[in-house]
Amino acid sequence: MVLSSLPRHVGLIMDGNGRWAKKRLMPRTLGHNAGMNAMIELARHSKELGINYLTVYTLSTENLANRPKDELEGIFNLLRKYFSVYVKKLYKNGARVKVIGDISPLPADVKKLLEDGEKNSPATADFTLTFAINYGGRAEIVRAVKALGACGEQICEEALSKYMYTAELPDPDLIIRTGGEVRLSNFLLWQAAYAELYFTPVLFPDFSCDEFDKALEEFAKRNRRFGGV
Ligand code: IPE
Ligand code: IPE
Ligand code: MG
Repeated sequence: MVLSSLPRHVGLIMDGNGRWAKKRLMPRTLGHNAGMNAMIELARHSKELGINYLTVYTLSTENLANRPKDELEGIFNLLRKYFSVYVKKLYKNGARVKVIGDISPLPADVKKLLEDGEKNSPATADFTLTFAINYGGRAEIVRAVKALGACGEQICEEALSKYMYTAELPDPDLIIRTGGEVRLSNFLLWQAAYAELYFTPVLFPDFSCDEFDKALEEFAKRNRRFGGV
């Protein structure tokens, strides 16, 4: 695949795991399981293509508040598995992981694994996989405004950006949402100001590298004007 432009940072709203499982008369947790496998493939593929940042929406603030306990426990188990086993392969390939969101209410062992996952990452890497966990764009903005107010800095866009979870990441160039819904559901609200948006009905566990490439091809055709002519 030869593209005229490649996004530096892709945000991925991994939606449709539950419906994928339901179609197969399986518990929702197995849909999340299949979703994690898809995500691992997409991270590998993104790195190979030369994309520098992939941010995956894993659990929203609303998901943590509103999903049944057993489904949340299934998601925590997947995080346990990813951050104790799979993350090592990522490091070996010279990539790092980052977590954004408020992980303080998560089970203590999961929280520790996430913190270690970041800490043990290589210091420099050409690929960063960021997990948005108990993440909400509105909560992030409120948190940043509070921090900025507390230190008495002048309020401006640049200063506020520094207090976002994503301070060290470039803004996403492309945001992909699988699963057919056409909304952001509180994902990267501040950072998405000039992101190109791509929506597909494909349920996340079926979102293959080929499907991802279709989104990249569409991105390459977009005319990004940033308010210019
Ligand atoms: C996305 O899949 C993953 C999470 C929100 C944790 P869903 O679980 O929302 O799947 P659907 O939308 O019910 O199919
Ligand atoms: C968005 O999906 C959150 C994640 C993919 C983690 P949801 O399934 O929670 O979004 P809504 O409820 O359909 O807006
Ligand atoms: Mg959903």
